[in-house]
Amino acid sequence: MPMKVKIVDWTEVERWSSSLSRSIVESGYAPDAIIAVARGGLVPARLLADMLSVKDVLSIRIEHWNETAKPEEKAVVKEPLRANLSGKKILIVDDIADTGESLMLAKENVSSCNPKEAKTAAFQFIGKTSRFKPDFIAEQLSEWIWYMYPWNYHEDVKNLIGRIKKPGDTEASIMEKFIAEYGARIPIDFKL
Ligand code: ADE
Repeated sequence: MPMKVKIVDWTEVERWSSSLSRSIVESGYAPDAIIAVARGGLVPARLLADMLSVKDVLSIRIEHWNETAKPEEKAVVKEPLRANLSGKKILIVDDIADTGESLMLAKENVSSCNPKEAKTAAFQFIGKTSRFKPDFIAEQLSEWIWYMYPWNYHEDVKNLIGRIKKPGDTEASIMEKFIAEYGARIPIDFKL
């Protein structure tokens, strides 16, 4: 099996959001604003903003993984944050810290906007591969896995099918191959 994939469902997303929000509250950290690392951190950031009663939600767009499970050499800030954060306590949110590059870069960018304090949070943290450990995590992984989050189903399914598809394949044969290759079922309806 060249690559292991875990299909994430919304129930898990809710559980991780609650768990993160609980840890943040228990730590005594009360952010004034939340910065999502787009695109992966957009949904987690919005859920945390709701749970923590934070109205100020901004985003910074960073690209590292230009295609499913294929990282670029460097993370790049595609849309920097241009905000005055002086006096504010910030929470930077992403879905996963895999290499840790995106969160590190986001923290650098946020720090240049002069916040009072900046902390980071992610649903998942891959201990083996990440150079950066977020302040708050919901789950630490002991091996590298591709997490297929519900906000990425269509993009990931298209890319992962593209890598295994051969002439003559049918939807049924692709469903079987997908399980054999990635150890997971395709979570959406698709057409070849
Ligand atoms: N983005 C970067 N690394 C990832 C991973 N392992 N799973 C899902 N999304 C990611």
